[in-house]
Amino acid sequence: MAGIVHLINGPNLNLLGQRQPEIYGRETLEDVVRLCQSVAGELGLTLAAFQSNHEGALVDAIQAARGVAGGIVINPAAYTHTSVAILDALNAFGGRVIEVHLSNIHQREAFRHHSFVSARADAVIAGCGVQGYELALRRMARLLTG
Ligand code: DQA
Repeated sequence: MAGIVHLINGPNLNLLGQRQPEIYGRETLEDVVRLCQSVAGELGLTLAAFQSNHEGALVDAIQAARGVAGGIVINPAAYTHTSVAILDALNAFGGRVIEVHLSNIHQREAFRHHSFVSARADAVIAGCGVQGYELALRRMARLLTG
């Protein structure tokens, strides 16, 4: 369980590479997952990746990590700013949580400045683009190995 990390991506991140590339870059979600699998392998972690556009499906995925994964790396996308349900699900997860945003949400519209998830996250990475996922996994490996 300690070496298992679930990577969870929220709504519209399936369109990475096509969606507002000036903000989110040209790499696709497939590229992100490939990078994360490679970094996880290097770190001795086992990674399972999931993406959904649906809030309830994301809650289900977080619940499914209970007792299975040592940590969750999550980009809740727009639900970051709205979802008490995702926060509650993360609060019911006993492992480590790292929140990732491709863009620097604090530099953008005021409604993106607040994250419900940050209250639960062990770390928050924003504004590093796709590299943020790699940084999150490296930090996660450190957290999981004490
Ligand atoms: C995002 C930032 C959110 O505000 C936005 O709704 C997203 C992506 C990011 O990765 O920068 O969909 O989480």
